[in-house]
Amino acid sequence: MASRIGDWMESRTGALRALREFLGEEMPASVGWRNTLGSVAGALLLAQIATGVLLALYYVPHPEAAFESIAWIEKNITLGDFVRALHYWGASFAVVAVFVHLCRVVFTGAYRTPREMNWITGLALFGVVVMLAYTGQLLPFDQMGYWAGTVGIEIASSAPLIGPAIRTLMLGGDTVGALTLTRFYALHIVVLPGALAALVTLHLLLLRRHGPMRAASDTSARMAAFYPAQFFRDMVAITLVLGGLVLVAGEYGGPKSGPLNLADTSYQPRPEWYFLAHYELLRWTHGATQKTIVAFALPAALALALAALPWLDRGRTAAMRDRKPVVAAAAVLIAIFMGLTAYGVSRMPAEPEDQETAAAAPPTAAPDNETATIELGRRVFREQKCFNCHLVNGVGKDIGPDLSLAGLRLQDTFLRAWLKDPKSFKPDTIMPPAAVDPEKFDALVAYLRSLRGTPPAQ
Ligand code: HEC
Repeated sequence: MASRIGDWMESRTGALRALREFLGEEMPASVGWRNTLGSVAGALLLAQIATGVLLALYYVPHPEAAFESIAWIEKNITLGDFVRALHYWGASFAVVAVFVHLCRVVFTGAYRTPREMNWITGLALFGVVVMLAYTGQLLPFDQMGYWAGTVGIEIASSAPLIGPAIRTLMLGGDTVGALTLTRFYALHIVVLPGALAALVTLHLLLLRRHGPMRAASDTSARMAAFYPAQFFRDMVAITLVLGGLVLVAGEYGGPKSGPLNLADTSYQPRPEWYFLAHYELLRWTHGATQKTIVAFALPAALALALAALPWLDRGRTAAMRDRKPVVAAAAVLIAIFMGLTAYGVSRMPAEPEDQETAAAAPPTAAPDNETATIELGRRVFREQKCFNCHLVNGVGKDIGPDLSLAGLRLQDTFLRAWLKDPKSFKPDTIMPPAAVDPEKFDALVAYLRSLRGTPPAQ
């Protein structure tokens, strides 16, 4: 009986034969542990879909209800807090897995002919995974997610020409609100997962078409079937990484950010760790031009260079010694990325609770190369009569908050939003918006950012 059903299924679907072909696929015998990274990334993405679907059963994408609905999941659903923690940490695990896989491909030269399209679909996948992680952050609509989302929107809207259009499209209005949340949610659960599925399918078809690359050091022509050796390597790697994810999620739980509170101006917005390197670079820019270059031109140039890598690489073989420029450039870029990320992590307050301590830290002197921008900002501050209500290092009136430590307490994004329209944060505030042209506005923000307890150097 069972075998008759089996035969029927087989004659109608050919599933068994397909499985046998899948497991029996011949690949170079030198394929090994380093070739398990793609499978690990794939398994993490499947886990994200599973936990994501569970969360979607209860999550409500509305600013008034999002935070509550997640708090409710954590409190009332069996293992709800654990599933949320898995989804939260799983995003970081997936970004790392895809990134490490990408690095492996660069260092082994696996992007080379005939695998150019494997490489390009892989790069696109990396972009989609990062976008998934980014759009997911806003969904809880808590303090952390709101500001991380806002920082990203600011960066995207600094793109030349299309920036304002992107901004309107992402926001669905003038500020982050109900439509922004709906749009991010649609991206997060429909558009991006759809793109992910399509790209993963293409990526795997291309992998099957060209097979995994023979290691540069392997001069033999030996082949081996995918099953059992490589199959079990994949399974071991997947088990270890998913086990690690379970441990981390169990140990640290989900993010512990409070509900959104726009009046709490001491909150320091911070992006997720994988955007920190970029965020740090952005903090060092002055003026709109530099900002556009770093925010937009730099990532765009990097993405183009990566996509063109198979054609830029003039190495004779895939061996590292034949590809020194590529290997060196990749190593330098990875080192810069990790250095900036580590620096960013070290200067971010670890938990929102630590913000007080950060504000109370001994004020650091502003760097000597104070630009003319800050000087201009100081003049705008005076012209706009900000001193009528604010104290700076003992000068001015004590009606609004003392701004002597504004540069330590307030982030760029908040300052810009606040100065443009204080009433959108605090409808009954007496503070007027800073109505000045964009150049003066930037200078004013730069000046406020320079206020760190000691008068900025002349
Ligand atoms: C009429 C008085 C008044 C004027 C003029 C004024 N502010 Fe304010 N400002 C306030 C008050 C009051 C607050 C605190 C928010 C509240 O309670 O309404 C505030 C808050 C702020 C904050 C947030 C500070 C924090 O620590 O939370 C910044 C930054 C700021 N003002 C900058 C400026 C700048 C720059 C100018 C000049 C363009 C300016 N203000 C002009 C009254 C004023």
